[in-house]
Amino acid sequence: MNKICVIGLGYIGLPTSAIFARAGYNIVGVDVNENVVNTLNEGNIHIEEPGLPEAVKEAVDSGKLKASTTPEEADVFIIAVPTPVHEDKSANTDYVAKATESILPYLKKGNTIIVESTIPPRTTDDVVAPILTEAGWDLPANDLYVSHCPERVIPGKIMEELIHNTRIVGGLSPEAASKAADVYRSVVKGEIHETTSVEAEMAKLMENTYRDINIAIANELAKVSDKLDVNAHEVINLANMHPRVNIMQPGPGVGGHCIAVDPYFIIEKAKEVTPLMQTARQINDSMPDFVVGQVKELTENLQKPKLAVFGLTYKANVDDIRESPAITVLRKLQKEGYNVAAHDPFVRQEQTDIELHSVEDALKDADAAIVLADHNQFKEMDPSLFQQHMKTPVVLDTRNCIQKHDDITLYQIGHLTGLKPIE
Ligand SMILES: NC(=O)c1ccc[n+]([C@@H]2O[C@H](COP(=O)([O-])OP(=O)(O)OC[C@H]3O[C@@H](n4cnc5c(N)ncnc54)[C@H](O)[C@@H]3O)[C@@H](O)[C@H]2O)c1
Repeated sequence: MNKICVIGLGYIGLPTSAIFARAGYNIVGVDVNENVVNTLNEGNIHIEEPGLPEAVKEAVDSGKLKASTTPEEADVFIIAVPTPVHEDKSANTDYVAKATESILPYLKKGNTIIVESTIPPRTTDDVVAPILTEAGWDLPANDLYVSHCPERVIPGKIMEELIHNTRIVGGLSPEAASKAADVYRSVVKGEIHETTSVEAEMAKLMENTYRDINIAIANELAKVSDKLDVNAHEVINLANMHPRVNIMQPGPGVGGHCIAVDPYFIIEKAKEVTPLMQTARQINDSMPDFVVGQVKELTENLQKPKLAVFGLTYKANVDDIRESPAITVLRKLQKEGYNVAAHDPFVRQEQTDIELHSVEDALKDADAAIVLADHNQFKEMDPSLFQQHMKTPVVLDTRNCIQKHDDITLYQIGHLTGLKPIE
């Protein structure tokens, strides 16, 4: 077992290819995007991830990794293609189906097939397996060993986490799980747990659903605190002194391509019995409107107010703006007619059509500043800058990250006590 064909060379497939190549496997990386393939064959990469450029260059130079637009025969096939959501939030498993179809001509008896893409429960049984069965493979007889092995890496630490995270390997059969576990055992230093494919699918989805629900309760607490005039941050600090309580921080909503998306993969399969998951999604999705509501209250006496918006990404210290609630807030504010000037030290102008400004330009003559990401730069920022550059130094901090200062009026989501319209 020494050749692996990896289908999909994005944030998951490419680091996975590089790590298996480093372990001595011969890797054929397949992508439908020719640019990705050409870039990789030159020893370069098209995504940003610490440690990845060196690993890919080393693998390509050693001849262990090559890229192609078509699959090849191999011992193991790893599928790492996207699973976006449709407009109605249902999962689009077409990429996984197409990737499975693309390997059909290259399969041999005894091959191991591993789906790493995040998929709704039963997708391995109901989407992947039927394609293989229809092509003539007898899966109950283990002609092929088919598994789902979800990824839980965090961008920025992918190279480290691919090796050290605990892995769940869910097989269509116990033998399939065991074969897939053998593949990972050759590179993974974390624990490897064998289970069924549907339990592996559900475990991955429940991890992010659990996080979504926990963020939702913090966000709901922020709304309750506003209604009852209580400081939610103090409440959270005190409640978390209980040895078995860990309430998270409220914020402007949930973004990214995992927590804001994965719960829908469960909900679509079990709508009638998931009111909690659905409500958590609604609460988190309602936060941008809650923020906009506070901004409107602050600015109701002003004619054409200028707002400085700090932070566009969905979490701190990254450049990722996918599904970012900060962008939702900004677009809603623009739609309401606000003159908005955005600043984010991580986002590059080519990533967005939103015009980006320096700290000073964003703050210049602004009536209020709205902080939507807790980047280190904002935590460390001298708060007197607000006073120096703004028309009125009023800050609405949705991430509880701006330092207090006598010369600024600071309101926090979770502690909006005394919020009154700017005169
Ligand atoms: N990025 C993460 O941090 C992360 C973490 C956990 C799970 N996941 C899951 O892993 C999967 C892959 O995510 P990603 O971030 O690597 O996606 P990505 O968009 O970065 O990369 C996917 C690649 O697959 C290629 N592709 C699409 N269809 C193809 C096909 N039929 N054949 C060959 N290539 C094809 C695309 O061109 C693209 O280059 C998704 O299901 C995602 O939810 C991602």
